Amino acid sequence: VSEPLVLGIETSCDETGIGIVRGRTLLSNTIASSMDEHARYGGVVPEVAARAHLEELQPSIEAALAESGVALEDLDAVAVTSGPGLAGALMVGIGAAKALAVSLGKPLYAVNHLVGHIAADLLTGDEIVLPTVALLVSGGHTSLLLVRDLTTDVELLGETVDDAAGEAFDKVARLLGLPYPGGPEIDRAAATGDPNAIRFPRGLSRASDLDKHRYDFSFSGLKTAVARWTEQHDGELPVADVAASFREAVVDVLVTKALAACADYGVPRLLLGGGVIANKRLRDVALERGAAAGVTVRIPPLSLCTDNGAMIAGLAAELIASGRRPSTLEFGADSTLPV
Ligand code: KG4
Ligand code: ZN
Repeated sequence: VSEPLVLGIETSCDETGIGIVRGRTLLSNTIASSMDEHARYGGVVPEVAARAHLEELQPSIEAALAESGVALEDLDAVAVTSGPGLAGALMVGIGAAKALAVSLGKPLYAVNHLVGHIAADLLTGDEIVLPTVALLVSGGHTSLLLVRDLTTDVELLGETVDDAAGEAFDKVARLLGLPYPGGPEIDRAAATGDPNAIRFPRGLSRASDLDKHRYDFSFSGLKTAVARWTEQHDGELPVADVAASFREAVVDVLVTKALAACADYGVPRLLLGGGVIANKRLRDVALERGAAAGVTVRIPPLSLCTDNGAMIAGLAAELIASGRRPSTLEFGADSTLPV
């Protein structure tokens, strides 16, 4: 089938995402988030996320079918994220996908979440020009990839060695007394701050780090630096300046490393994905510095950048079109699944 009708299930973190595509055409993309339930813990609680998926899956599948006008019997395949992600959360989606595929007698495709983020860009209707460098930044991952072919050749150039970028936003927000999720809160607080007020460290960017960790990220030192700074300035904390300076450090290191990969590999294209792309400063700096370096920066709409089921269905549609055989039923959740 060249334009397969695929239903995709994404449950790797706190979003229950169901998407339906026909080839590269997006038919529906329903997302239910358990973010509110995690708020009082200051971060995603795996057990809470897994339970929420169990409750949300059935209504989400029904909503996606209703929205697209697709009948289950007409699907050509079912797709599901098998990793990387939270093991318990993944298992709920995998169980549902297996049950659905077996009961319908349809092929099942287990797909990689990170590659799915890249496939999301196909659903915008614009052709992706390959090769491209891709930077994926969310609460769960910070990965720099070189994509030569979506179905056969995606190389992980680097990733975070500690916290994910979104996680750093969430933890620093907490230090500043701001609620979860921290990204939007820090953004708001930073609006009136001076990004150059405090020079916070750019992780793994010293010359001595660059041999081994040229494309890797580290945000825990930055978080510690903010913690130390806030302790020392207790009572007279210029929250706006701290937020703006912290955000600048994160954005600077993300964009610098992504553009370094573009230059090193001679690839004048950068694709952005993940929920942290909601950060306007990150988008602006990437576009500005990209333009200065002759790199075209692509930013899909946010509904396709945050975790969603459409990207999973979209990737499976590509795999099917490229002749890939379906997965056998033995696969399980792989929380560290490589690309
Ligand atoms: O991709 P996503 O929706 O889901 C998961 O990672 O599960 O990303 C959520 C992350 C959170 O850490 C949140 O703080 C961060 O993205 N985020 C932002 C912004 N909006 C959301 N980070 C920085 N600036 C933002 N405006
Ligand atoms: Zn993700």
